[in-house]
Amino acid sequence: MKDLLTKGSITILLGTGGVGKTTIAAALALAGASAKLNTAVITVDPSERLRDALGLAHLGGDPTRIGTRQLAAAGLDRNLQLSAMMLDVSGEWDAIIKRFVTDPARREKIFDNPFYKSLTVEFAGSEAFAALQRLYDLHQTAGFELEVVDTPPASHSFEFLQTPARMIRLLDSRTARWLFTPSLSAGRIAMKVASETARFVVREIERFAGGSVLSTITDFFAAMAESMDAIIDRMHKTEALLHSPAVKFVMVTTAEPDRIRQARELLSQMDSEGLKLSAIVINRFLDERTFQECARPARERSAAADSVERPLSHLAEISELRASLAKDGADGNGSARLVNHFEEYRDRTLDEIKRVASFARELPPGVKLAIAPEIEAGVRDLATLSRVSGYLLSGSTILKPLEASARGVESLRENNRLRGGRQG
Ligand SMILES: Nc1ncnc2c1ncn2[C@@H]1O[C@H](COP(=O)(O)OP(=O)(O)O)[C@@H](O)[C@H]1O
Ligand SMILES: [Mg+2]
Repeated sequence: MKDLLTKGSITILLGTGGVGKTTIAAALALAGASAKLNTAVITVDPSERLRDALGLAHLGGDPTRIGTRQLAAAGLDRNLQLSAMMLDVSGEWDAIIKRFVTDPARREKIFDNPFYKSLTVEFAGSEAFAALQRLYDLHQTAGFELEVVDTPPASHSFEFLQTPARMIRLLDSRTARWLFTPSLSAGRIAMKVASETARFVVREIERFAGGSVLSTITDFFAAMAESMDAIIDRMHKTEALLHSPAVKFVMVTTAEPDRIRQARELLSQMDSEGLKLSAIVINRFLDERTFQECARPARERSAAADSVERPLSHLAEISELRASLAKDGADGNGSARLVNHFEEYRDRTLDEIKRVASFARELPPGVKLAIAPEIEAGVRDLATLSRVSGYLLSGSTILKPLEASARGVESLRENNRLRGGRQG
């Protein structure tokens, strides 16, 4: 992960809602700042969790620097340059129009135009589009060495990336401009709409336009006519930035079967869009204790008396439970149910380890993998966030010792099953 946090890059977090994108964004930004980069974490997430985790009293449209006192209190270098901000996109569309349409009368016409309003307010990707425009500006002017960008909750993350291209396709379409040239009479528009391309554009525009009537669309294109090229040029630049090597996409997922499946889908979707994924973070995988055990040198781990290496010794104990209860004559109904419960937990954990390991093996070359555990007390402060950063920076080193231990638990399970069978 360290290789991703380089000067001049923008790291964009992707993933379905609730997997921990916002948390991982903050943790990666902290890692970037710890690597001596002047870093900003930018959220488009309306929730205030990021603010809480960073210990900020306020998180607004301007970057707020994390204070030296908070950093020191979390045991961090007080000179870290870490700022956080919300992408406030409410006025972004108007700002674009103000910048590119110089004639005040035309500008007013655009602001009052119902098509403009539905394009900028109701269209689903509109906020995301504005956010990317803001990000473009910020990247050009704010002087951060690294920007880590969180994306909105729910499944819109990918749409977020497709919006500029869609917007360009729509507004830049010569058909659209030709169709909506105001001098045309309604009759001639109807005739033109008969063509296949025109029908496509009209359909697309209808999706953008909500209930706008045709005349408002024509008015919009007329008022925009002079500035349209400059605006589209700007959209192309944003689109180009998204596809440039400066931008690195990091997907966050958890280890649940559904989430892994969604992650696979997103991977192939990105591939077909020509977007390269730089890294995947599997978040909330196992617990911190297991991670810490895996991080110990192998020598120390195998010094444990148990037959199974340290990290999963609790699962190994579960595998002995049934036999030892039988030996103690305590195999009543209640304890049998309890053992079933524990064994289910063990098997679920073993499955999870297998799933993550095979997911790791099938990743396309060049896609890095990092893993963070479930933090029992939650991620609510800088110190905890910094621990998460540490896990992310150790990448997927946990997998090898973990798989070795899991194999040990599995053979123990099989042995005990055989033994139990003979006894029965
Ligand atoms: N590794 C983790 N361990 C424990 N809790 C976590 C972890 N990652 C995220 N969370 C918690 O899960 C919830 C959702 O995380 P969040 O980062 O807001 O997800 P998203 O942005 O993907 O919706 C938050 O309450 C957050 O504190
Ligand atoms: Mg979020």
